[in-house]
Amino acid sequence: MTQSITIRRPDDWHLHLRDGAMLQAVLPETARHFARAIIMPNLVPPVVTGDHAAAYRDRILSALPDGMSFEPLMTLYLTENTDPQDLAAAAASGLVKAVKLYPAGATTNSASGVRDFDKVRGVLEKMAEIGLPLCVHGEVTDADIDIFDREAVFIERVLDPIRRATPGLRVVMEHITTADGVDYVKSQDSDLGATITTHHLIINRNHILVGGIKPHYYCLPVAKRETHRLALRAAATSGDARFILGTDSAPHTDANKETACGCAGCFTATNTMALLAHVFEEDGALDRLEDFASRNGPRFYGLPVNKDTITLTKTAEPTVFPQKIDSNDGPVTVFDPGFPVFWTVT
Ligand code: DOR
Ligand code: ZN
Repeated sequence: MTQSITIRRPDDWHLHLRDGAMLQAVLPETARHFARAIIMPNLVPPVVTGDHAAAYRDRILSALPDGMSFEPLMTLYLTENTDPQDLAAAAASGLVKAVKLYPAGATTNSASGVRDFDKVRGVLEKMAEIGLPLCVHGEVTDADIDIFDREAVFIERVLDPIRRATPGLRVVMEHITTADGVDYVKSQDSDLGATITTHHLIINRNHILVGGIKPHYYCLPVAKRETHRLALRAAATSGDARFILGTDSAPHTDANKETACGCAGCFTATNTMALLAHVFEEDGALDRLEDFASRNGPRFYGLPVNKDTITLTKTAEPTVFPQKIDSNDGPVTVFDPGFPVFWTVT
């Protein structure tokens, strides 16, 4: 039986750090295990210019506790008014590593997102020219499309047409939740990648709804049926370089989750690496955990793999994770996988 595994230090290719008190509380949870993360720009107001991204990066670095190292990889929030020159300058300086596309209304703080995709054509062409990746929240927002179908419909109606119209555009389908997403990535070339979250490898939609509604399992895109979860597991553990760890760890206070209209997001920064060791071991793929968590991301983004390592060790007793992280805004519940985990990061 494998007792421990040492892998290159992982990165998180999709992370919500928020701002202010919440940033202060959650940043150490990520920096403890991860060297770098792609930082989502859906603040209020959103991070839409190079100047905003530089200021946000400074706030992240000042919130980092002494003795921890962490590199925030900044993104810009794409709006119908994004200036291609500002974006190109922010990319050329090395500050901005990707641009995030939220269809307007798709999720938390997405009101400034894109309604008319023709209006961002010039920006997308610029991005293809300079090789700046587009991170896509892949869900349509049409009221007549069932929430469980919104990813599959997005691929057909929005993503595939954008990619055909913009040859060379590098795209990451963020947090894929369906076999349709997996199949689409596999059918394309290496200009298309996809992040997969830890929680979507663990829960299906029954976890949210059976036996009472579980607000801490509600996120967007919402978890789908079991066949989709199994397709995600197969993709993540396959070693295919196009599937990349992006936790989408998304903190909301308990007050904002446990309410009549709760926010979407699972907070997994604290226990993600231990949970992934469990998942990969269960699927007989521990030797591919390093590809998923530490190698595929830098390869897609054209960055070096981290030099240092982390070690995951098998424990005799179930690992006890904190149930909550305290912030000055209120407590944040840590994702509970619902089964004992015999792994810890040492
Ligand atoms: O569950 C989610 N939470 N999905 C998203 O797309 C946004 C995120 C958030 O910012 O809370
Ligand atoms: Zn997200």
